[in-house]
Amino acid sequence: MTSRIAVIGGDGIGPEVTAVAVDIMKSAGADIETVDFDLGGSRYLRDGTVLPDEILTELRGFDAILLGAVGTPGVPPGLIERGLLLKARFELDLYINLRPFTLPDGHEFMVVRENTEGAYAGEGGFLRKGTPQEVATQGSVNTRHGVERCIRFAFDLARSRPARHLTLVHKTNVLNFSGDLWSRAFDEVSADYPDVETGYNHVDAACIHFVQDPHRYDVIVTDNLFGDILTDLGGAVAGGIGRAASANLNPDRTAPSLFEPVHGSAPDIAGQGLANPVAAVLSAAMMLEFLGQDEPARRIEEACATVPDEGGTAAIAAAITAGVEGTR
Ligand code: NAD
Ligand code: IPM
Ligand code: MN
Repeated sequence: MTSRIAVIGGDGIGPEVTAVAVDIMKSAGADIETVDFDLGGSRYLRDGTVLPDEILTELRGFDAILLGAVGTPGVPPGLIERGLLLKARFELDLYINLRPFTLPDGHEFMVVRENTEGAYAGEGGFLRKGTPQEVATQGSVNTRHGVERCIRFAFDLARSRPARHLTLVHKTNVLNFSGDLWSRAFDEVSADYPDVETGYNHVDAACIHFVQDPHRYDVIVTDNLFGDILTDLGGAVAGGIGRAASANLNPDRTAPSLFEPVHGSAPDIAGQGLANPVAAVLSAAMMLEFLGQDEPARRIEEACATVPDEGGTAAIAAAITAGVEGTR
């Protein structure tokens, strides 16, 4: 059955890499129909639109959303990020951010990042803003429901993989409230998964292991902000940020899931044909897999595994296209 995909190219290199991803899905034989949505910083600067509820309602009618990246110089930081991307994550209840990494030697590990709570919930505010007595607070929201559903997803994922290993990453030695909730929920849920081996790392130590010994990891589960930071590091150790894909999932399928590269809009290289499209292309493959189009997804993953990262967007896109067409 044809999958209807909403494509939000967004800002900077976003539209450059989503255009490649759409072409490659078609070359790989995916059965898709796409509709482009002009959203992001440039749209905002033109007419003030970020993500109004009517457009969100329209997006709900699609099978999935493919997003490039949002955020652009000239627009206050966070305005588009929060108003578009986080709004979509929260409103569509995309509570899992799944970010897989493949090391140059083939070892694969995955970060399951909680995607709707933590420091991203926007709890906080100012007092006496702009005065010498200014106060700014930024809370972290952790609900038992939100934490537990994320941990259960991670256990299910770990159980489905050969290594059956799950590591909780947090900062329980300092974050005595949220860390305590996370580790109690983790321990309690683990009782339902006796076949999954578990471990724990503080997030600072996890940074060392990501660089020096990432092979120790199979599946990692962590909170929203730690997951954000760790997955840029994951990208950097696993072949570069230009290869890091991600899926914002609503596992209950009550709304469309959203797929996007881990990287941002890269204003420093936008418009120059330099962006590596692999991250967007692999995100599209995750999308096809989630939609049950396993064959084209597998073709794309295989082609991306061997494609060189040099030569710029067009050359890399041509190499992936040759790869997927070679296996059809
Ligand atoms: P960034 O990920 O855009 O760029 C960081 C560095 O990585 C830059 O040097 C960039 O050139 C390089 N890079 C990123 N993607 C690349 C690719 N595909 N190929 C080659 N090089 C690549 O992070 P930033 O500079 O901190 O953020 C820029 C903007 O993007 C900000 O507005 C930020 O909020 C936003 N952002 C959006 C998303 C998203 O929409 N999902 C994610 C991260 C950042
Ligand atoms: C990411 C990005 C986003 C995040 C920003 C743009 C809101 O950095 O997807 O990793 O922090 O989640
Ligand atoms: Mn990030």
